[in-house]
Formats: sequence, C-alpha cells, structure tokens
Amino acid sequence: MSTTTSETPSHKESKGGLEGIVAATTALSKVEGTAGRLIYCGYTIHDLARKTSFEEVMHLLWFGHLPNHKELSDFKLALVAERTMPPMVMQVLRDLPASTEPMDALRTAVSAWGAISIKGHPSIEQALAVTARFPLFLAAFHRLRRGQEPLESRSELDHAANYLYLLTGQVPKDEYIKGLNAYLVLLADHGMNASTFTARVVASTEADIVSAIVAAIGALKGPLHGGAPSKVLDMLNAIGMVDNADSWLHNALAHGERLMGFGHRVYKTEDPRAEELREMSRLADPQGFVLARHVEELALALLEEQKPGRRLYTNVEFYSAVLLAAVGLIGDLFTPTFAMSRVVGWTAHILEQVHHNRLIRPEADYIGPTDLHFLPLSER
Ligand code: ACO
Repeated sequence: MSTTTSETPSHKESKGGLEGIVAATTALSKVEGTAGRLIYCGYTIHDLARKTSFEEVMHLLWFGHLPNHKELSDFKLALVAERTMPPMVMQVLRDLPASTEPMDALRTAVSAWGAISIKGHPSIEQALAVTARFPLFLAAFHRLRRGQEPLESRSELDHAANYLYLLTGQVPKDEYIKGLNAYLVLLADHGMNASTFTARVVASTEADIVSAIVAAIGALKGPLHGGAPSKVLDMLNAIGMVDNADSWLHNALAHGERLMGFGHRVYKTEDPRAEELREMSRLADPQGFVLARHVEELALALLEEQKPGRRLYTNVEFYSAVLLAAVGLIGDLFTPTFAMSRVVGWTAHILEQVHHNRLIRPEADYIGPTDLHFLPLSER
C-alpha cells in the first residue's frame, strides 16, 4: 500500500477508514468523483449501460475486452451450463428459517456450494460458475420462504431475465429486463470499495475464490456499504403522493435527518450511475417515476437552499431503489441483487490480485500501554 504523500500516516494525521490510501493498482474500473465519471476497462459506464448486456460486461471485466459475436455466444452457453443447484445446497436453503435475511441465505448458499465445488487457484471458470448461481440461490430461497417451490432456469433467458423469471415464474416485460440489465451493468464494479477490498485481502492470503466472495458478501451487507438501499423506498412510501413531498422533506431536514439517496463520499457531482438509472426507472414504471422525480427535484433544491455549495447530488441508491421496486423486487432483495452484480467485480479483482499477488498486510499504530507490571492470577 502507498499513501498519496510519501509518508506513512500515523493514526493522528489519518482521517481513519484508509481514506486517501491507495491499496492496489487495477485496470478494472476508474471512479472520477469530481468529474462524475465511471469507467470499466476504458469504456464509459454510459455506453455500457445503454448498449451492452450484463454478460458482455462480465466478459469485459474477466477477459479485459468486450466479446465479439462468437465469444459472446460461447460465453453465454458456458454460463447457462452452470445454472445447476446441487441437492445439498437446496437442502441448506430449505432448512433456513423463512425469517432469514436473503443476504444471509445467499452468503450461506455460496459457502455451502463452495465447500463441495471449488478446488484449486481462482480462475475465470470458477468466477463464471459462482456468478451463474447467484440468481439461482437467491430466487430459490425467496420462493421457499414464501412456501413456493423453486423453479428451473430457462436457457433462452439471459442473466437478468432468468433471475426475474426464477423469482416470479413469469417471463418479465422487456422494460423490466432492460432496466435490471442496466442496473447489473452499472453496479458491477466501483474501484476500491469496502467489499472489493475485502475480497482482495482474502485472495491475497491465497485462500480460495469462494472464501473471498463470502467475505465480500459480509462487507456488502453493512448499512454503510450496500445494506441500506430500501431506505429510499421507505422514504418514498412515507411521502406517498406528490402533494406531500414538500412538507415531508422540509420536516425531515428541520429534524436534522438525512435525505436518503443524496450525497456521496467520492462523487461531488451527480453520480453517473444515477443518470442511467433515472431513465431506466422512467421506462420501467412511468407512473411511479412521477413521484420519484418530483421528490428528487424538490430534495436537490432544498439541500442547495439550506446550505449552498455543499455539493449534494443524487447518488446511485435513489434510482436503484426506484428501479428495483419497479421491476417487482421487494426491499430485502435489493442488497443481494446488488451482490449478484458486484460478484463480477469481486471476482475480477480476485483474479487481478492473484496474478500479481503480495499478501495485503498493513500495520496498526499501537496506542495502548507497554510497561504494565504483570501479576499472576492468584495476585490479581
Ligand atoms: N441529506 C441531508 N444532508 C446531507 C446529506 C443528505 N443525504 N448528505 C450529507 N449531508 C450534509 C451533512 O449533514 C453535512 O452537513 P454539514 O456540513 O452542515 O455538517 C454535509 O452534507 C457533508 O456530509 P458528510 O457526512 O461529511 O458527507 P460524507 O461524504 O461523509 O457522507 C453519505 C456521504 C454518507 C453518503 C451522506 O451523503 C449520506 O448520509 N447520505 C444519505 C444516505 C445515502 O444516500 N447513502 C447511500 C450512499 S451511496 C453509496 O454509498 C453506495
């Protein structure tokens, strides 16, 4: 690891949280917070969200280039071939109480699958095998907790469409497939975020790929990372209708509350993913979009009015929540659906880490005492 200055920061001078520390070099994604740009392997996220399938982005992040026709069709066949659920994993999902959080069920299923399926060094084949199964694990658990039997995948459906089919038993509308596909593309990687860093740390110990992914799922679960997107939905549901928005937002800010879906640690302009998700939300649910857009415009105006120059803009969470609700997902599936996308970035980073590996092992500034007089147990 290196710092942005030539000195190693002590706990006194660092802001904590490794802010400003460069922890790795990567050719996968670049986040430009001031310009509001996000790039995967050289391509702007806007082109990828509008013009590529999630499968093409998997290929891009794992192989470093966008596939041609032949590569894409071979790649899709390989993904479809991996859509199998070992009976042992299904039994684990059946045994979980219906009250289990879907994120916990996903973590458990991935771990159980890894225990019987993964051997050897991390590889693209392993990345593909685990990524192909995320929708299966999630949808199976979701149906089981509702007393429904899990469904078989449909080979003619792509990743996004097959996930919605496995959840509902219905082949989804084109607008839903397009919206979810764009969401999966947009969330697939984002620099050295906490879960990606976690995955790289575990991979750097030469542990297996599934151990690194399970650790990353744990990191993503926390509310400061991926664990709170349904709060935007709670806010929109509490507002309920356009006429309530002004008083609700004024009241929330007057009570010192933060408006969910606004502000970002890195982006000091609009999050480029928000622009794409806004349009996908409009297409997926034109009616629901009216309230969301009205709340967004009012919130931005109020935040600017209250403290001009603070640079608070719409972040990825706002329209992620609107879009995922529009395509039919309930709130507790939002974070595991985020994981279904981000597993591609995690595995790409794991592969990058193991190809140029050095154990990630930072230091800590010890601030406790050093010269206490030891007393044996009988004298304490
Ligand atoms: N609503 C109202 N005020 C806000 C908001 C918000 N959403 N976000 C920041 N502010 C204010 C803070 O109160 C602070 O005001 P002050 O200068 O008067 O004290 C100022 O803006 C700066 O806030 P910080 O907390 O220093 O900004 P930070 O970069 O640490 O926070 C964060 C970023 C956590 C995302 C914050 O903007 C927030 O809490 N937003 C709401 C929750 C949210 O949308 N989370 C999802 C983020 S997207 C993602 O992480 C994937």
